[in-house]
Amino acid sequence: MKLFDVYPLMPVNIVKAENCKLWDENGAEYLDFYGGHAVISVGHTHPHYVAKIKNQLDQIGFYSNSVINKLQEELAEKLGKISGYEDYSLFLCNSGAEANENALKVASFTSRKKKFITFRNSFHGRTSAVVAATDDPSIVAPVNETENFIFCEWNNVEEFEKLFFENIQKLAGVIIEGIQGIGGIQIPSQELMNKIERLCNENSVFFISDEIQSGYARSGKFFAHQYFDVKPDIITTAKGMANGFPIGGVLISPKIQAKHKMLGTTFGGNHLACAAAIAVLEIIENENLIRESLEKGKYLIQKLKEIPQIKAIRGKGLLIGIDFEIPAAQVSKKLREEFKIFVGSASDPLTMRLLPPLTISYPEMDYFISSLKSVLNSI
Ligand SMILES: Cc1ncc(COP(=O)(O)O)c(C=O)c1O
Repeated sequence: MKLFDVYPLMPVNIVKAENCKLWDENGAEYLDFYGGHAVISVGHTHPHYVAKIKNQLDQIGFYSNSVINKLQEELAEKLGKISGYEDYSLFLCNSGAEANENALKVASFTSRKKKFITFRNSFHGRTSAVVAATDDPSIVAPVNETENFIFCEWNNVEEFEKLFFENIQKLAGVIIEGIQGIGGIQIPSQELMNKIERLCNENSVFFISDEIQSGYARSGKFFAHQYFDVKPDIITTAKGMANGFPIGGVLISPKIQAKHKMLGTTFGGNHLACAAAIAVLEIIENENLIRESLEKGKYLIQKLKEIPQIKAIRGKGLLIGIDFEIPAAQVSKKLREEFKIFVGSASDPLTMRLLPPLTISYPEMDYFISSLKSVLNSI
């Protein structure tokens, strides 16, 4: 059997990794400024992470969600503490799309309404409702088409208010990325975030923050929406949550009552996934990775500003978008082939995304900057 051909693949077979380094099957070493798509938060094969997973596997890897799982409680407690959401409750699932699907379900079940405001340039996943909430018609199959999602222009507060009141009778929620990721690291305005929070609170509409890419310390805060001093009702996480072990989470405000049959999953929150996710939180805490991400991000942005060929730089912490006047793919290819560095792309072909593990070192950042300068000078 062959693989179903769904991705344009880079011609590299990665077989081994350690912290921010990757090796291919021929032993060539690469620097990871892509984090496997914003997934590697605490560095590849971190010894504490590896030990915790191995140890858990020796105990039990999985059992059904119909019995008590103390590891889920430990994860919820630790996550509540580090994120500042101790009074919220946690639903565990397996991916980002699933986390967002469940967030929309919680908002819809509770409000008994079905419409959501979402934003232009957004990405919320590839499954049924969330792909319809994503601003990319090319990934929406006919079965996913629905009129339940209303698209608002990014950072257009006036349009947001107009759409909000035009649809108020049927409006269950508003979903917005903490910082838009695939859309090119677009930061929401303070005014928009305040307006979403206020209108949602005053009208019993749920404010959902998709922190799947921007969360888990990547932005230099635990969640990116915390830059704006707002408190969403529902927050979704995945990617960096278990450093590559599949897991997703939905943090749910105490104003929402849980009911049996509302949500459910076979694999979500299994013992092995929880052990991996707990290890990640322990490493984030022990190694001060929230502060590290913030400081390293500032350093990187300051160095990037010295490069004249870069037209725009956006970002917070280690979630950075840079715009060129030439296709970013041309720059990425040379970085990979000539300097052995992986970087990310974005929906705009002129934009490059930098998403290194939060454990990236200063010499590694300097190597990236000097390599980028060489590439840009050679094009
Ligand atoms: C902001 C955001 N939401 C949701 C998703 C979907 O996550 P997953 O691919 O784990 O389903 C992604 C993935 O890139 C994302 O960046």
